[in-house]
Parts: sequence; structure tokens; C-alpha cells
Amino acid sequence: MANFDILVLPGDGIGPEVTSEGLRALEAIGRRFGHSFRFEHDLVGGCAIDAHGCAIRDSTLRAAKEAHAILFGAVGGPKWDDPGASVRPEQGLLALRSDLDLWANLRPVQPHPSLIGASTLKPEVLEGVDILVIRELTSGIYFGKPRERRVVDGRREAIDTMYYNEHEVRRIARLGFELARERKKRLTSVDKANVLDSSRLWREVVQEVHADFQDVELQNVLVDAMTMHLIRRPNSFDVVISGNMFGDIITDEASMLTGSMGLLPSASLGARRPDGSGLGMYEPIHGSAPDIAGRGIANPLAMFLCAALLLRHSCNLEKEAQALESAVDATIRTGLRTADLAGSGSGVSTREMAQAVLDQLEG
Ligand code: IPM
Ligand code: MG
Repeated sequence: MANFDILVLPGDGIGPEVTSEGLRALEAIGRRFGHSFRFEHDLVGGCAIDAHGCAIRDSTLRAAKEAHAILFGAVGGPKWDDPGASVRPEQGLLALRSDLDLWANLRPVQPHPSLIGASTLKPEVLEGVDILVIRELTSGIYFGKPRERRVVDGRREAIDTMYYNEHEVRRIARLGFELARERKKRLTSVDKANVLDSSRLWREVVQEVHADFQDVELQNVLVDAMTMHLIRRPNSFDVVISGNMFGDIITDEASMLTGSMGLLPSASLGARRPDGSGLGMYEPIHGSAPDIAGRGIANPLAMFLCAALLLRHSCNLEKEAQALESAVDATIRTGLRTADLAGSGSGVSTREMAQAVLDQLEG
């Protein structure tokens, strides 16, 4: 029997609705396999701003460092959207990524066979799609310095800096090659090396690392071309690595291959122990969805798949992760759909969908 400490940060919008279902899934796994999960809850994002005046407190960051894993809902909403505000919900998320050094963001994209019709793309384009995007998460233009807003000659201007050093690129490249080696042995590295110096360094380092992984095929693709190839021939990709901002953009695009953002989990990982597991933060990529928040209709499946990734990457519980993934898979096969996939005005509730997965898990 193993004990795991999980910091739970439901956040804003639909975050709390889906996170509570994710916790039920972990509890069910605990009962079935004999593990215990201790959950500590805290605030992040807009709700933390309302309660404490900042998007995340230092005590929350400390608790995160001491936990085995963090289960994260979503942050943000119209209430906190003022671009002039000095505190913003997203700062909580960025602080977690950076302070915990969670430099690799894994975003698997695999359309479910019974949901092929839900995508706007033709079924034949989606056949066999199974992509793992690894987005660099703690550097690049999100964190580069200088970063400022100022007034020069009476004119407002602002600067963000796209920065990468070789260490940051090398660890992403290594992880990409390692994971590609366990899959179809194809790695696509996304950059903008025809224009940006940071991308030329990125490409150079990726090519150097390739020397240690000659059995993996490497392809360098410019980010603009990548957005095109992703919808033209998505099944030609296996593992994709990219810098922070390019990865942000192409993963939203890639999510549409599955028909709904409500299905996609993500894992943010840093240093790993020898058994391959380590502190991680798990977060659905759908965001806070303020338009449907509080109505009990959000799709909980992305959160369930996050819980599975948490079991796999932070608890080293592969069998348990697969049990949860199979329960999600079986539930989708029964034809049950939440509104994001059933069409507005129809579909089952968050709770009904979640219960169906739990029944599969316990049945
Ligand atoms: C994501 C989100 C975040 C990002 C926002 C909420 C800061 O879009 O996780 O993809 O840009 O990284
Ligand atoms: Mg994004």
C-alpha cells in the first residue's frame, strides 16, 4: 500500500466541477488497488486573487513542492480579464510551472475511434492519428528577460524576449527522442529557424542530441508549415517537440483533431527519479470555460485522463493508470456524451458522465 500527497488546485470556471470528479476517480483507484491519496486543497487563479489579492500564495507554492503531484483545474474568467490589471489569474499557473521547474509539458492527442465524426476534419485524415506533443514550459518568450512596458518619446511600447539556452533545449530534445524511441521512432522538432536566432540554436542542439538517437528519425519543421501539416496529414506525426509559445499554439490546433478540447489532458513534468516518476502537475487543456461554468455540463473526461497521467508519471502506478484510461475508453464506447460532443442543449451532465466512468472502473 502506498500513500500519496496530492495538492488539489481546482481554480476557476469549470475547474472545480471537473476536479472534484477527478478526485473521485483517484479515490476509486485507491479502493480498487489499495493505495491512499491524501488531498490538500488550495486556491489558485481568479479565486485566489479575490481571496488573497494574488494569483497564488507562497505557502501554496511550498505545499506544491512537498506534494507528490498537483491536480490543477483551470484559471481565468471575464471577471479578471482587464488587460491593465497588475494581477492576473494566469500568473498562478506560470508561477507553478516556473517555481517547480516543470519544464516539459506532455500533451497527447489521440482521437477516440468512436469520436472520429466529432472532428471538423474528414475521417480519413484522422485515421491512425496518435501524436504526443512535448512543449517546453519554463523558458522561451513566456519567461525571457527583458520583459517590460514603457513609454519612449511619448509612445507606449512593450517588449517580450524569446530566450533559449542549450541546456533547456537539450533536455527537451532528449526527452523527445527517448519517448519517440518507445513509440514510432519519429521526432518532429518545431521552430522558426528561418527567422529567429533562438530557433537556430534550438535546431542546432536538437541535431546534436540526435547523434545519440540514430534509430529515431528527426524532422525539423517550421512552425507556420507545422500548423498546415497538422490538419493536412496529422497521422504522419509521432512525437513533436517545440518551444513554449509555438507549443501553446499548435496544441490548441491539435486538440481539434479529437473533436473536443474536453478530452485532452496534459502533464507538466520536471526532474525524474530513477524509476521515471517525479513531481508533476496535471491539467486539462480545456481551460476555465466561463460560458458553461456552474451548469454541471462540462466534460470531466480530460480531468479523468489527467488523473491517469498523474498515476503514471508521479506515482509510478502504470497498471492503475491503464485501468482508469480503459474505463474512460469503455465509457466513450457506450455512446454517452456531454454537451461538447452531443451538441448544445443535449448530452449528459458532468456527474452522469463521471459516474459512468466510475461504474466501469468498479464494475
Ligand atoms: C495553456 C494555456 C496557458 C498558456 C495560459 C492559461 C497561461 O493557454 O496551458 O496552454 O499559455 O500556457
Ligand atoms: Mg494554451
